[in-house]
Amino acid sequence: MNKILLFLFTILPLFQKVESQSDTLTTSQILKDGETIISSDGTFELGFFSAGKNSSSRNRYIGIWYKKISALTPIWVANRQIPVKGISGILKIVEPGYLVLINNVTNDTIWSTNFSSISVKNPVAKLLDTGNFVIKDANDDLLLWQSFDYPSDTLLASMKLGRDLVTGLERYLRSWKSDDDPAPGDYTYHCDPTGYPQDLMRRGPNVVYRAGPWNGLRWSGAPNMVNNSVTSFGLVMNDQEIYYKYELVNKSLLTTLVLTPNGNAMRMIWIEKREGWVNYHSADADHCDTYKLCGAYGTCTMFSDPVCRCLDKFVPKHPDDWNRADWSSGCVRNHPLNCSEDGFIKYTGVKLPDTRYSWFNETMTLDECKLVCLRNCSCMGYTSLDIRNGGSGCLLWIGELVDLRQLSESGQDIYIRMAASEISPIDGSSRKKSIILAIALPLSIAAILLMVGVCLILRRQKKRAETMLIEKRKLDDSNNKDKNNQIRREALELPLVDLSTIMKATNNFSLENKIGAGGFGKVFKGVLEEGQEVAVKRLSETSRQGNDEFKNEVSCIAELQHRNLVKLLGCCIEEEEKILVYEYMPNKSLDLFIFDQRRSTLLDWPKRFNIINGIARGLMYLHQDSRLRIIHRDLKASNVLLDFEMNPKISDFGMARSFGGNETGDNTNRVVGTYGYMSPEYAVDGIFSVKSDVFSFGVLILEIVSGKKNRRFIHPDHNLNLIGHAWMLHREGRSSEIIDPNLVESCHTSELQRSIHVGLLCVQQSPEDRPNMSSVVLMLTNEGILPQPKPPGFFTERNIDDATGYSWSDQTPCSVNDVTVTLLDAR
Ligand SMILES: *[C@@H]1O[C@H](CO)[C@@H](O)[C@H](O)[C@H]1NC(C)=O
Ligand SMILES: *[C@@H]1O[C@H](CO)[C@@H](O)[C@H](O)[C@H]1NC(C)=O
Ligand SMILES: *[C@@H]1O[C@H](CO)[C@@H](O)[C@H](O)[C@H]1NC(C)=O
Ligand SMILES: *[C@@H]1O[C@H](CO)[C@@H](O)[C@H](O)[C@H]1NC(C)=O
Ligand SMILES: *[C@@H]1O[C@H](CO)[C@@H](O)[C@H](O)[C@H]1NC(C)=O
Ligand SMILES: *[C@@H]1O[C@H](CO)[C@@H](O)[C@H](O)[C@H]1NC(C)=O
Ligand SMILES: *[C@@H]1O[C@H](CO)[C@@H](O)[C@H](O)[C@H]1NC(C)=O
Ligand SMILES: *[C@@H]1O[C@H](CO)[C@@H](O)[C@H](O)[C@H]1NC(C)=O
Ligand SMILES: *[C@@H]1O[C@H](CO)[C@@H](O)[C@H](O)[C@H]1NC(C)=O
Repeated sequence: MNKILLFLFTILPLFQKVESQSDTLTTSQILKDGETIISSDGTFELGFFSAGKNSSSRNRYIGIWYKKISALTPIWVANRQIPVKGISGILKIVEPGYLVLINNVTNDTIWSTNFSSISVKNPVAKLLDTGNFVIKDANDDLLLWQSFDYPSDTLLASMKLGRDLVTGLERYLRSWKSDDDPAPGDYTYHCDPTGYPQDLMRRGPNVVYRAGPWNGLRWSGAPNMVNNSVTSFGLVMNDQEIYYKYELVNKSLLTTLVLTPNGNAMRMIWIEKREGWVNYHSADADHCDTYKLCGAYGTCTMFSDPVCRCLDKFVPKHPDDWNRADWSSGCVRNHPLNCSEDGFIKYTGVKLPDTRYSWFNETMTLDECKLVCLRNCSCMGYTSLDIRNGGSGCLLWIGELVDLRQLSESGQDIYIRMAASEISPIDGSSRKKSIILAIALPLSIAAILLMVGVCLILRRQKKRAETMLIEKRKLDDSNNKDKNNQIRREALELPLVDLSTIMKATNNFSLENKIGAGGFGKVFKGVLEEGQEVAVKRLSETSRQGNDEFKNEVSCIAELQHRNLVKLLGCCIEEEEKILVYEYMPNKSLDLFIFDQRRSTLLDWPKRFNIINGIARGLMYLHQDSRLRIIHRDLKASNVLLDFEMNPKISDFGMARSFGGNETGDNTNRVVGTYGYMSPEYAVDGIFSVKSDVFSFGVLILEIVSGKKNRRFIHPDHNLNLIGHAWMLHREGRSSEIIDPNLVESCHTSELQRSIHVGLLCVQQSPEDRPNMSSVVLMLTNEGILPQPKPPGFFTERNIDDATGYSWSDQTPCSVNDVTVTLLDAR
């Protein structure tokens, strides 16, 4: 019976699809399931659709999608909450001017627009070229209602994100519940007008991400989103409304900002030639974007160690928590404020703090701003409101400064209130400079020396004479030229590629060639003259950390050769440019497949099992078989690239460390890596070893099997992460419930179960219990009996919480099915 019904539903829309090419619905027409209306330039289409990959689902929604893009990409959904069951839905426009969606079988009204205070004689509904669906009078442009006032999860060009101060209407994005359920999900994205306007992403009531306040050019924390050849951005603020919007400069391109069900706001550009979306800006690009990660007066610096530091002249409020990498309590001043006798110290290169408790004036000068701030004892800092033309206006903060981060490029200045005793008598520019240096120098020098040290030790075994020379150079490592020479020397074994060749290959680093971006720079696709496709990683010019990363990656990876490691083909060091050239991986990275509702169907179990085994062999090579013996330290789905046959290749050796023949690991104060993949002993105590890579690999297995991310895993019944969920199910003999529904029907149950089991062995709390990679490779392929896993590390994760941000050291015992765990027990 069921089967027959399903058959009908899949077939019917096909022969019922009578595409009226009209863009308008009049009162004398109705829109049935299978029919659509199309905007006059053919960009957008409106009609009934089924969400997600289950196209045979009986749940039908009215929505708008791109007509030009063959993979259904809904940008607006009318009846998000209540689907029409089956194909009996009818959309019509009725007098005096509203849309109504009814089920013709049950006669229920499923959705309708509100009555407008205006009534017109001859209302029509029209789908405009912008993607806006409007109700208006047939004969003039008076709007009664528009879909742009009720966005779903997508912000299109010229849509307003923000508040109408007259009517009180707020337009904001709300994520879908999941990729196949458009019902309102957990995440919202607002242009928040409290204090001075800024973009905020919330999960439920809690802020999880902040793009920062508008500074005249862009959001302070989103350097990518500035006027360019594709889009222009702006904040509009007047008595009537406050909103953010962007416009397309080149109308032939498609671009959207989408809030995904897992809470990532992504700006995407459609590249026609490649039939795909390119991610242009992503809200959780790195974990310094996690709201309030470093607490008050703490600042987050990617790739520093640890990522959180107190601002200069501040110290951790609770040093014990701080040393445990729980930074939520933040920092306090060395010397308390006096109020009447205070001054200010300038900090540079920051993303401005949360402006919900701020005050501003658009006409004041910076000096006037300083006076206002000085007079009010709760004012903790001030800066220019608009940084264009040398700065104008006044923005000042009342209360603690939270959610600061250091930006390598395009950070701003902020003046922070400080006790008079902290302010040195030296005035003017020399003082400013010394402050900048005090913040930036010790850190980067320490990092450089550490990495150079590691590289040098390696080299010493090999080229003793040459190393001595380099080491000498290192001692007077003060100017850039010398450093470049040194890098050049270390990279000698690699072909050097001319900058001009690379410029040509990537079409001058054009946006269309961009295939990714990370903390260190951007990645472009290039085609060399011989036709060979390459991936070009261009390190951002001004980031010092980038130099270290470059050196590390070149020296480490140039020595490695394995079919499951991405191959470095050459490098380029010219002027300020530092560029790496890799083999091109047409299928990009693993995360784009396993975590994507649609693309995950392309990876059946045999392919996934091949990927798991490939990563295992690549890692085994790194740990045991390569001459250098390397700990990767940042293994994760996005660092596993896929070639044209979907063979995995481990990439991104920027954080890798070598270790000598007898050592197996080390201890560091510099915890780098990615939340969700870091082992407890590494994240908490900074101890890393091959076993911390094994932990990350275990997480990766569970993610590949389940199609879900460990971090941000959500389950209605408990707040365990994916590891915890897998372990609980394993204990109850219900492992198979974790398997990606796409894989369930495959007849590889025992391989699947075995992989989950091995994954759980890899994520055990204690590093000694975890198998090494050669055992893992054997366990995956042999049929032998596996040991029972002990409890995993980090299997609960504190909810993303407005008050504390992310935290590893959740000491609250949490009771799950009579297992009580305290995370820090094993320390
Ligand atoms: C697809 O939808 C149909 C009908 O709603 C349902 O019976 C089926 O289980 C769904 N399939 C999947 C894989 O969710
Ligand atoms: C709606 O239902 C009525 C009676 O059930 C039927 O006569 C009519 O044709 C249906 N209309 C559409 C558009 O399917
Ligand atoms: C549905 O409602 C309309 C108007 O309210 C009515 O004329 C029609 O008879 C109803 N149809 C059914 C099947 O109840
Ligand atoms: C109708 O108005 C209410 C309150 O004014 C609003 O919450 C709702 O979203 C509106 N619905 C539509 C579809 O316009
Ligand atoms: C960005 O472009 C828009 C539209 O052209 C313009 O109004 C705005 O002033 C530009 N912003 C900047 C900072 O140049
Ligand atoms: C707009 O973009 C298209 C596609 O990238 C390009 O071919 C065209 O030249 C661009 N037009 C302008 C005016 O930049
Ligand atoms: C601030 O310092 C001045 C001068 O040192 C002193 O007289 C005053 O009492 C102090 N005020 C507070 C609130 O500590
Ligand atoms: C802003 O500052 C200017 C100059 O000090 C003043 O005239 C104006 O009233 C202030 N505006 C507001 C809204 O406070
Ligand atoms: C400081 O400024 C804030 C915001 O304008 C105001 O609420 C507060 O009363 C002021 N405090 C003093 C002491 O003036």
